[in-house]
Amino acid sequence: MVAPRSALLDAVGALPQAVNPLALSLNECPFPPLPAVRSALRACDEAANRYPEFLPQRLRSLIARHDGIAEEQVIVGAGATGVIMQVLHAVTSPGDTMVMATPTFDGYPIFAQMARLRTVTVPLDEHGRHDLDAMAEGARQARVVAVCRPHNPTGTIEPAAEIERFLTRLPADTVVLLDEAYVEFLAAEHRIDGPTLVARFGNVVVVRTFSKAYGLAGLRIGYGFCAPDLARELWRMQLPFGIGISAQVAVAASYSAESQLRQRIRMIAAERRYLQMRLRALGVYSTDGQANFLFLPGRPTPWPEVFDGSGLQLRHYADGGVRITVGSRQSTRAVLSAVTAAS
Ligand SMILES: Cc1ncc(COP(=O)(O)O)c(C=O)c1O
Repeated sequence: MVAPRSALLDAVGALPQAVNPLALSLNECPFPPLPAVRSALRACDEAANRYPEFLPQRLRSLIARHDGIAEEQVIVGAGATGVIMQVLHAVTSPGDTMVMATPTFDGYPIFAQMARLRTVTVPLDEHGRHDLDAMAEGARQARVVAVCRPHNPTGTIEPAAEIERFLTRLPADTVVLLDEAYVEFLAAEHRIDGPTLVARFGNVVVVRTFSKAYGLAGLRIGYGFCAPDLARELWRMQLPFGIGISAQVAVAASYSAESQLRQRIRMIAAERRYLQMRLRALGVYSTDGQANFLFLPGRPTPWPEVFDGSGLQLRHYADGGVRITVGSRQSTRAVLSAVTAAS
């Protein structure tokens, strides 16, 4: 007898999060995959007895075609996490230096430690943006620099021209991870032209993921693209049979449902603007977030106290700030009611 679906999800610890509208600590999409993606996932179960492609060549082509780059420029991994580790394994040796902002995506220090790198951290400026001058200075002896745009946790972006100026200041053999995990939430005028950028800077790897806007965090799929020479080096580290069939099918189905996906992304961005506006009316400032979350800097009443007992799962920072994933109106209401009650 087949166990009920919920029991199976529960057995792997996925159920509480999947149905919890207050789980706002990981910047996931709060909605289940699009109907077309779900039915594609159901349809691929009959192929589960077979390995996926030895190296994900077809997926690579699919992504390349979608993003307007050559397929030999693309690498694929288990989330952006897998891609970043692949880059670190390919280009660093233990003891090399990695430069990153602070605060930043929690993964970077973990990945650096796994690759046995030294880390140099550079505080954000007062607007929650990268201090690119200080990072360029810190990167003189570094092998890798991570720049995350929009930034996690502040959601801010630096103008494309500033990023380009920063890149011209770096040594040509310092690899730059331009982490665009949230790029799909950016308005067109704020996006960087990735293919042109990597054509100009042979040391830049643009990193993207299907975990955020595409809402497929549980399937673990991400990719990177860069100049062909560097990509060849990175592809050598491509894990055999490393990307499961369901992940590959979900990408194909997502690309076929692009207009619904864009509609969902617009809805999440609108919800973020709404929450920001309502918080502002309550006297609460947030950084200029451009992704699917808001960052509220610390203030006299500590945020953990404000949200205590609300049931909300949020990411609290040592400097007193808090990051809140945005998406559903239900979670927006819960955040607003906790803040209102504490005002
Ligand atoms: C900036 C940034 N990069 C990478 C990741 C990792 O994403 P993935 O699920 O693709 O490994 C995250 C996840 O929160 C992130 O915020």
